[in-house]
This record gives sequence, C-alpha cells and structure tokens, in this order.
Amino acid sequence: MPGTAGPGPSARPEPAAIADTGPKTMVLTGASRGIGHATVRLFAESGWRIITCSRQPFNRDRCPWEEGPDDHVQVDLNDHRALALAIHDIKARLAGRPLHALINNAGISPKSEDGGRLSSLTTPVATWMEVFHVNFLAPVLLARGLFDELKAGQGTVVNVTSIVGSRVHPFAGTAYATSKAALACLTREMAHDLAPHGIRVNAIAPGEIKTDILSPETEERLAPLIPMRRVGSPMEVAKVLYFLCSDAASYVTGEEIHINGGQTL
Ligand SMILES: NC(=O)c1ccc[n+]([C@@H]2O[C@H](COP(=O)([O-])OP(=O)(O)OC[C@H]3O[C@@H](n4cnc5c(N)ncnc54)[C@H](OP(=O)(O)O)[C@@H]3O)[C@@H](O)[C@H]2O)c1
Repeated sequence: MPGTAGPGPSARPEPAAIADTGPKTMVLTGASRGIGHATVRLFAESGWRIITCSRQPFNRDRCPWEEGPDDHVQVDLNDHRALALAIHDIKARLAGRPLHALINNAGISPKSEDGGRLSSLTTPVATWMEVFHVNFLAPVLLARGLFDELKAGQGTVVNVTSIVGSRVHPFAGTAYATSKAALACLTREMAHDLAPHGIRVNAIAPGEIKTDILSPETEERLAPLIPMRRVGSPMEVAKVLYFLCSDAASYVTGEEIHINGGQTL
C-alpha cells in the first residue's frame, strides 16, 4: 500500500523526519459547505490545522478560520489525475510533518433533471462513474497517497458513508446508495489493512442532516417519521467526527457510527 499513488520521490523531508510537536493536522474533503464546513469550525476552534479540499476556491467571507487560504487545495475529486496532483500539493503543505486525520467527507448525490430519484434503471453511465469517483475512489486514493504521513502521525481515517448504504431511500439514488455501501465495506477492509501500522479507520453514517445535499421536501416528509422528530445539524455530525479523531476513540477501528435520531430503529 505505501507509495502506490501520487508522484515519485522529491527533495521533501520524509514524514516523521520532523518531530510531531506542532498542532494536530487533518485533511478534510468537501469543506466548503454543510457537514465539512461545521467540521472545520469545530476542529479549528480546538486548535487543529486543517488542510481543506473542494472544487470551489477558498471563500474568506464564509470561512473565518485563520490559515484557510494557505491550507486550501482546490481539486475536483471526480478527476483522478487532478487528485494525484492534489496529493502532491498536500504533501508539500505538510512538508514532512505527520498527518493525524483524513476525513473523506466530500460526496455527491445526483438527481434526475426534474429532481427525481435516479434508480438502477434510470441512472446514466456517466453518473455512475462520477458518483463512484467522488464518493468511493477518491477516499481510497487519498488514504493510499497519504499513508506515510498518516503512519507518522499514528493517525485516523474517517469515511462519511450514509444511512442509504443499508436501506432504500425515497430520494437518494441507486448509484449514491451503492457507493456508500462500498465505502462502508472499504472502511472495514482499510481498518484491517492499516491497523498494524497504527492507523485507525472508521466511518460515520449520517441520516437526514440539514445541508444542501437534501432534497427540498426531505425535512417536511421524513422528520415526522424519525423517532427524534427532527433532522440533524451539521455540527451534530462534526462532534462525532471529533470523537473518532480524538484519543477517546483510541481503540475504535473498523466501525460505522450511525447518526440519525433513531431513524433505523
Ligand atoms: N446531509 C445529509 O443528510 C447526509 C446524509 C448522509 C450522508 N451524507 C454525506 O455527508 C457528506 C457531506 O455531505 P453534505 O450534506 O455536507 O453535502 P454538501 O452540503 O452538498 O457538501 C458537499 C461537499 O462536497 C464537496 N464536493 C462535491 N463534489 C466534489 C468534487 N467533485 N470534488 C471535490 N469536492 C466536492 C463540495 O464542495 P465543492 O462544491 O466546493 O466542490 C461540498 O463541500 C457527503 O459524503 C454526503 O454523502 C450527508
């Protein structure tokens, strides 16, 4: 697994060549909105350095954290060639320092042109490819590409899966659901492969969280069916991510934690 993705060796210092004394550092995909945005706020308040990745450039008005513009990598995770360059860029920003967490949060859930659910009968091939690139392949390539840095930090990987990975959903499509089921399985596989190197790998599976990814009618239709009678907030998800990246979870690996107000009970 080590060294199988990303560009070849350079003059950069080897990870762990520099003592692990600075702030804890995290790479977070999909930081520009929703769950990712809340996650940056929470971790930044706790003193973490966060290297963010998303398609949009850094937005100073919406993102008040200090080092934001310096630590933002603009990348389309749908493009695996661009991803190799992004990994190179992340390594350069780390400059030999260890990585303590990788949160694979970016995700897409495409709908049909009229906003309807894309089923196994109606999902275009290009949509299957895009969904699996962003939701599934990018997490594998990032974890593989940043293996040395994660090992040096005795770090943790958290993959953001979904409630729809294990049950059919009225709005989320088939490509999205299967990509999240695959990501849950990948979490188990990676936890097994990386544990001997001191890297923990877990997943969180949100239910209905109030962000742009929800269909407009989700809250109105589904909240009454959720035992807690409401959708969740991005910060409620960020807090579970924080737990998994903290020493409080030091013996937790290969798990998928569900955050859904009891929706699956
Ligand atoms: N909200 C929910 O109810 C819910 C439920 C279950 C699971 N989830 C999962 O939680 C994660 C975050 O979802 P969210 O609700 O916060 O979604 P969101 O508000 O739509 O945000 C998605 C994030 O992913 C980034 N992104 C999308 N496509 C990308 C690409 N090709 N390359 C790089 N970045 C990309 C977006 O940034 P740019 O647009 O700047 O690229 C954005 O920051 C996703 O994995 C989602 O599947 C959410």
